[in-house]
Amino acid sequence: MSASIEIAGVSKVYDGGVRAVDAVAMDVRQGEFFSLLGPSGCGKTTTLRMIAGFETPSSGAIRVDGADITHVPAHKRDMGMVFQNYALFPHRTVAENVAFGLRMRGLDKATIAAKVKAALAMVELSGLEDRRPAQLSGGQQQRVALARAIVIAPRVLLCDEPLGALDKKLRQQMQFELKQLQKKLGLTLVFVTHDQEEALAMSDRIAVMNGGRVEQVGTPTEIYNQPTTRFVADFIGDTNIFRGERVGPNLDVGKGLILALPPSEMQGTGVLSVALRPEKIRLIPRAESAAAGSSAHGIVENTNFLGGAVLYRVELAGGHRVLVQQPNAGTSRLFVPGNGVTLEWTPADLVVLKD
Ligand SMILES: Nc1ncnc2c1ncn2[C@@H]1O[C@H](COP(=O)(O)OP(=O)(O)OP(=O)(O)O)[C@@H](O)[C@H]1O
Ligand SMILES: [Mg+2]
Repeated sequence: MSASIEIAGVSKVYDGGVRAVDAVAMDVRQGEFFSLLGPSGCGKTTTLRMIAGFETPSSGAIRVDGADITHVPAHKRDMGMVFQNYALFPHRTVAENVAFGLRMRGLDKATIAAKVKAALAMVELSGLEDRRPAQLSGGQQQRVALARAIVIAPRVLLCDEPLGALDKKLRQQMQFELKQLQKKLGLTLVFVTHDQEEALAMSDRIAVMNGGRVEQVGTPTEIYNQPTTRFVADFIGDTNIFRGERVGPNLDVGKGLILALPPSEMQGTGVLSVALRPEKIRLIPRAESAAAGSSAHGIVENTNFLGGAVLYRVELAGGHRVLVQQPNAGTSRLFVPGNGVTLEWTPADLVVLKD
């Protein structure tokens, strides 16, 4: 039966004084695919290792189904872990690798054989029982590591960048399969990645980490559409961030550019940052006039063909540089560097950030 996890104000200061994790608080629900996402060094692995029991928090508590496990040793936590480098035993066969956790638990031979067979079938490796890791592809080794983790029917599965070493195509396939397996088994899964597309594609919810802290926890759509901080807006996908002074219902971001604020944000004074996604901006041939607050004139500086879409960098008359993404719909006009264009957007698409 899979479990919920509560991380209550957990910090980790390593010997030497590195504060790797700083007052992290989050709840992982039973059966949830929960990702820890953030740049290198932000404390993802440290957080995962504390959940697994390989590191002890300097302060705070970790609870599983409400029970405090902060000081329970790793092998008594009933958790499966998949490491970034797979960490398979090179001299043992696939079947022996998968059987490892079951042997440790002292199960009889027949039970072990049956469980190993079922786990290998689950990750579609039947028939490769007698190979050694060096005789497998990267994706197959990854599946062995996965089978080894799930064969013990863990309450929680912890994965540290498990797909990092795979090429893009295989990686996407494994993303899909891992997600399917997780849902089928009803597993609580904590998944570490620094790849924002991977986190958006796979997760029920994501915790975005930065410098040992959690910046925001939310569903992929919440994290993408309503980032609450500049860091999250910037880290997840391409975005335009403007910082300026409120002037009535508008934001004056300098160099002659005025943005009409969303209806919910028209009150207030002072300095404010807002984000506007490139795909929320429409690009049209240079219009006669531009509606103040929700459009601007500019010149295409460069274009980046993405296949299904085109990403433009446009320099506005006052000097701001803005990213604009347009679908490559066949009907939509493609612009080239030097073209005069007009940008249009809807004020409600501006997302106000707390810095
Ligand atoms: N055993 C250790 N002793 C001292 N400092 C450590 C130790 N392990 C990690 N750190 C430091 O703690 C911080 C967080 O490291 P961590 O491995 O948790 O980051 P991460 O988010 O997993 O990064 P990456 O994406 O590169 O794997 C880093 O500054 C790292 O140098
Ligand atoms: Mg790491």
